[in-house]
Amino acid sequence: MKILFVCLGNICRSPMAEFVLKKMVREAGLDYEIASAATSDEEHGNPVYPPARQVMARHGIDCSGKFARQLTRADYEKYNLLIGMDRSNLRNMQRICGGDPEGKMSLLMDYTDRPGDVADPWYTGDFGIAWRDVNDGCRGLLQYLTEKGT
Ligand code: 4NP
Repeated sequence: MKILFVCLGNICRSPMAEFVLKKMVREAGLDYEIASAATSDEEHGNPVYPPARQVMARHGIDCSGKFARQLTRADYEKYNLLIGMDRSNLRNMQRICGGDPEGKMSLLMDYTDRPGDVADPWYTGDFGIAWRDVNDGCRGLLQYLTEKGT
């Protein structure tokens, strides 16, 4: 299974989802390929935003070595699932990839009982709420995938 998380800058929400799911998958003894990317090129090459890095560090997750990169059309071929953090991400993902003919795109919160957008810490300033959403989304996603037997 190959999963790509996508947000606007690839410095807050999608790296959080990448590293949270990597930890859950490792703990479950599974072997998935997991990465993250941006719809914009604004933050290209930048490391994870310090408050996002701190919230992950508090939960024992090290995200050093991650640098922002933009989504490409080739990612659509490579990954089985491309998962956006909010509805605006999803529109931009479709624009960049030329639609979603294989039905690979979804939103992270679709895998929870609270569908909609991950709370955007860039605007709310609250990385704890974003952490909670990302954590719930990744847990639901992993449950969905293991129930499907993938
Ligand atoms: P992210 O957060 O999409 O969760 O990585 C943002 C990062 C940068 C900007 C907005 C959101 N920005 O406007 O530069």
